[in-house]
Amino acid sequence: MRPALVDSFGRIHRSLRLSVTDRCNFRCPYCMPAKDVIFQPRAELLTYEEFERLVHVGVRLGIREVRITGGEPLVRRDLPRLVHLLAEVQGIEDLSLTTNGFYLQELAEELKEAGLRRINVSLDTLRRDRFQRLCGVDALERVLQGIEAALGAGLAPVKVNAVLLRGLNDDEALDLVDWARERDISFRFIELMPIGGGPIRGGEYLVPGSEVKARIEGRHPLIPKRDGDPSSPARTYRFADGRGEVGFINPMTEPFCSRCDRVRLTADGKIRNCLFDRSELDLRGPLRLGASGEELEAIWRLAVRNKGVGGCVELERGAGPIPTRRMWQIGG
Ligand code: 5AD
Ligand code: SF4
Repeated sequence: MRPALVDSFGRIHRSLRLSVTDRCNFRCPYCMPAKDVIFQPRAELLTYEEFERLVHVGVRLGIREVRITGGEPLVRRDLPRLVHLLAEVQGIEDLSLTTNGFYLQELAEELKEAGLRRINVSLDTLRRDRFQRLCGVDALERVLQGIEAALGAGLAPVKVNAVLLRGLNDDEALDLVDWARERDISFRFIELMPIGGGPIRGGEYLVPGSEVKARIEGRHPLIPKRDGDPSSPARTYRFADGRGEVGFINPMTEPFCSRCDRVRLTADGKIRNCLFDRSELDLRGPLRLGASGEELEAIWRLAVRNKGVGGCVELERGAGPIPTRRMWQIGG
């Protein structure tokens, strides 16, 4: 057995996030600039076969879970083909996708058939006009139908995530939770991170997860879940009445870097240890020059060995790192 992807803090990395494109059809203000976005030329993106090859390499290094992200992964052509390739890789125990939901209506069944296990959809508001103002497209209805399609296709569990922004949509916490409870959807609130490329960078817009939790608890008593995945960043709770669950991902007020088991591969084939990193190690170049599996493993191991303590911890210490890429280029 080869040494696993272990860093100098002893963290073992089993979860890989693949960003397959930096393109997106939405313009969420905490993620992307509203206009004049320069996307990466297509030739710089890894092909699906290249992703597959690198996932094989990852499995040999101990990767057991793959999550496909973007930009918006479903804007990349024929994404189910990539899902199919990855679903065949022996050793991957969990294959999931994070999406804005826009194309789910059309693709949910196909993704399921290709071997996708489960899905996370972003949804920040249930109000049509607000959705349009926030995300830049009039697509609430489509996204809601996309979520229904994912439920119908059995992409279970369907999880829905929201980022609450003070004064913009934080009055909807209870509405979102009630909507999810009616559908047996598990809901997650993610704290705003100062990592977007758009107009909203954090600061006064941040709504601490503890505040959201207190508001929900005022209406629905919550019971902490004990059986959750210990490496998951979410603190999850069951509703005392037995209907559904809710989670809080609090990178800003309760950094979880110490139990991070994630490593990222960017759409152009760079290993990135953390959302907040300022450096990456290139796998695409060596891959295209014909590097062997062992050589790629060595580069990947080296990249992870040099992983820092973690961006949220550094932020808490006041370092204020500016990542070299923004959220839409990394995929969360
Ligand atoms: N802070 C927190 N979460 C973010 N996301 C995108 N940008 C940010 C940010 N700046 C979320 C999206 C999606 C997931 C991929 O990351 O809402 O749910
Ligand atoms: Fe697109 Fe997701 Fe970023 Fe919104 S958060 S702009 S949907 S990549």
